Amino acid sequence: MLDNLRSKVISIIDQDNTVVEKLQAICDLLKENVAYYDWVGFYFKNGEKDELKLGPYSGEPTDHTIIPFGKGICGQVAVSNQNFVVPDVKAQDNYIACSITVKAEIVVPLFVNGKNVGQIDIDSNTPDPFTRSDERFLEFINAEVAKIL
Ligand code: SME
Repeated sequence: MLDNLRSKVISIIDQDNTVVEKLQAICDLLKENVAYYDWVGFYFKNGEKDELKLGPYSGEPTDHTIIPFGKGICGQVAVSNQNFVVPDVKAQDNYIACSITVKAEIVVPLFVNGKNVGQIDIDSNTPDPFTRSDERFLEFINAEVAKIL
């Protein structure tokens, strides 16, 4: 399933659209085609500030459009440079709740020339749905996105 989406991601990247349009199309593609992806969005470092700013996303609007480095799952990934897979959000102390329906989350950092410039963030209403396949898939997407940033 995820592997079938890789070629669609590449064709989105190759289209003659703006970066924002491409990122939006990727969010929509993932949310519509992966049953356990209930909210899909990109956060990026906000200029010179040590905070993340929400970019394109697909799913319910969130109040958390700015997240300081270190806060929540997203803010922790901004400083750790590591994937963060959360099977059960209730078990996390440093977590920012966006919706009471969310059970699990995965955040994968996005690197440009080795620098952590942002991340893809996915919330799931299904408990413990994410595997290594999701990590590899999201790493692939971020590597493709890095080419157009
Ligand atoms: N749950 C995230 C905040 C972003 S929302 O999921 C869209 C976190 O703890 O960083």
